[in-house]
Amino acid sequence: MAKTLIRGGTVVNSTGTAQADVLIDGETVAAVLAPGSTLLGFDVAGHVDTVIDATGRYVIPGGIDAHTHMELPFGGTAASDTFETGTRAAAWGGTTSIIDFAVQRTGEKVFDGLAAWHEKAAGECAVDYGFHQIIGGADADALAALPALIDEGVTSFKLFMAYPGVFYSDDAQILRAMQIAADTGLLTMMHAENGPVIDVLAEQLIEQGKTDPYFHGIARAWQMEEEATHRAIMLAHLTGAPLYVVHVSAKQAVEQLAAARDRGQNVFGETCPQYLYLSLEEQLGAQGFDGAKWVCSTPLRSRAEGHQDHMWQGLRTNDLQMVSTDHCPFCMKGQKELGLGDFRNIPNGIGSVEHRMNLMYQGVVTGEISLPRFVELTSTTPARMFGLYGKKGVIQPGADADVVIYDPNGHTSIGMPVDESGNPTGRTHHMNMDHSAWEGFEIDGHVDTVISRGRIIVDDGEYRGRKGDGSYLKRELSQYLI
Ligand code: URP
Ligand code: ZN
Ligand code: ZN
Repeated sequence: MAKTLIRGGTVVNSTGTAQADVLIDGETVAAVLAPGSTLLGFDVAGHVDTVIDATGRYVIPGGIDAHTHMELPFGGTAASDTFETGTRAAAWGGTTSIIDFAVQRTGEKVFDGLAAWHEKAAGECAVDYGFHQIIGGADADALAALPALIDEGVTSFKLFMAYPGVFYSDDAQILRAMQIAADTGLLTMMHAENGPVIDVLAEQLIEQGKTDPYFHGIARAWQMEEEATHRAIMLAHLTGAPLYVVHVSAKQAVEQLAAARDRGQNVFGETCPQYLYLSLEEQLGAQGFDGAKWVCSTPLRSRAEGHQDHMWQGLRTNDLQMVSTDHCPFCMKGQKELGLGDFRNIPNGIGSVEHRMNLMYQGVVTGEISLPRFVELTSTTPARMFGLYGKKGVIQPGADADVVIYDPNGHTSIGMPVDESGNPTGRTHHMNMDHSAWEGFEIDGHVDTVISRGRIIVDDGEYRGRKGDGSYLKRELSQYLI
């Protein structure tokens, strides 16, 4: 078993920082040592295969992106990253585990959906991967299948209060699913937007000739996120089920979550980098059809209304507990352009799996969050929330050796510059997209080295991994269950 010593760095866990050396034996962290690396009087550096000098750099647990959609069929097309391309991009960005969503739709068997997603991912992934289960057709058969997901390591499922006719569940279906969750310990994840109302608003906007991407954000009014979040919280309260609300973007939805938590309810909220940095006015409202790059649901919110600042605040106060990407990339050509002339036909989603760690580190640079909180939001809490903690989310003896060496004095330019004709002139990302939703973002830090279960997969601007390196993560129940 190969041994690696990471020497001279600052180890950052969610609990704090320490000058320490990290000894990796095979796939596992063997020891976290006082600087200087001696064990029982032996110089450790002389007894390992590889020594990495991390002086002046942070040594952090590999990122866990708990919300991705590789190859998701959606809006008449499919997300453009495969498990191979998407997980490789994740690795480049310092994310060493993803949790993707297997899909069940009306009339389909839950376990057929799960098997299909295993088939897509097996042997393809650059980093470790697990699954949540989307229940898009919560009929009696699907609900009956839920408890057995736990034995498969799928301990959370997602319901949608949005997308009528696609993934939508009505209140009665949600109630029944939550009753099962309360009984079994499954965690209910909720897409909280009032889909039927949004669809009427969208239809009315189109009838008025308001067809541009900007109106996607107008149709998906914050009131309908607040209302659905409140309704989900009340149904969870009634049933006693814990609740995890995904991709929260409206400050009023955060207020609903905070109020429920203050009442003692076991509810959690995730936001995404796009809701911290991007806005309705600047990105969705871009000239012509360009705003289509940023069509996602929940939508980007108005900066004038202060949603972005409120998301950062929620992350500081722990009213929001996690940052995932909701990575669901679509190319402009042949995909987003399906919605030319009618924003309702633009496939919903943004690609960010490669940038989450950098974008969240920039929040440390700008003073929005502390360094340990950065680790907590991007790795430790995802591990605790979704039954991976101990192996993932922390650098400690016995943990999987998923480690990122991050240079706070490095620099990362994000984007995909184009020439006057719109042809890419270079590429600073590895996601399978013909544009970047993060064009022009500059990060005051850099992912230098990425180690996944003991193997160096990214180092010094070179990808050294292989497809199939990643293993399936059979997850335990959430640590936040009471
Ligand atoms: O726009 C989004 N979020 N696309 C992916 C599907 C979902 O609702 O998470
Ligand atoms: Zn969603
Ligand atoms: Zn999603």
